Amino acid sequence: MSRLNDSNVLLAHEIIERYPRKKSALIPLLHLSQEQNGWVTPEAMRHLAELLDITPAEVIGTATFYEMFKFEPVGKYVINVCQTMSCALLGSDGLMHHAEQKLGIKAGSTTEDGMFTLEPAECQAACTEAPTLQVNYRHRYRVTNDSFDQLVDDLRAGNLDGEIPPHGTLGRNRQHIPAEKFVGAPDPDDVSDGPVWIPVSVGDDS
Ligand code: FES
Repeated sequence: MSRLNDSNVLLAHEIIERYPRKKSALIPLLHLSQEQNGWVTPEAMRHLAELLDITPAEVIGTATFYEMFKFEPVGKYVINVCQTMSCALLGSDGLMHHAEQKLGIKAGSTTEDGMFTLEPAECQAACTEAPTLQVNYRHRYRVTNDSFDQLVDDLRAGNLDGEIPPHGTLGRNRQHIPAEKFVGAPDPDDVSDGPVWIPVSVGDDS
């Protein structure tokens, strides 16, 4: 199924209600569609445009700005090997080459069984732990060829199912805001007054 399913349509409407402008809900709904299908399908983007009263071009124009959204099928596990300076100095080129050999694919592609997508990545903000990789955005540090092999074998065997969910899975704690807690933000188009600044006392350096 590519459009949002019925339960996700209900959830989408709940999310849209939180924003003064419908289209502000676009990013959360893109995440929702990616969680449902593992990637953001063209049909899903058209469906989101309908739900948000915007054009499909606006959806794709925004979605393609973000690296985390995928527009073609990817593996159950997306492995991103950092290729930036600290990791490069500590062997990430060799690690990527080894990963290609282990998985039998080139970087930028997906194994035939749909289990793994291998991608190069920019700095993962863990330079002291180089070389690093992420599996579905879960870090692995100081990765060696042997630990990479063990990681892949464990993923294939399901040994890490409790730690690393399938690609696209969102956090398990979904936020539900009771109606009485809504801030009641006005539509930005209806705001004509200037901003209300918080007064600062003279001599207050904060
Ligand atoms: S360079 Fe690889 S984590 Fe920063």
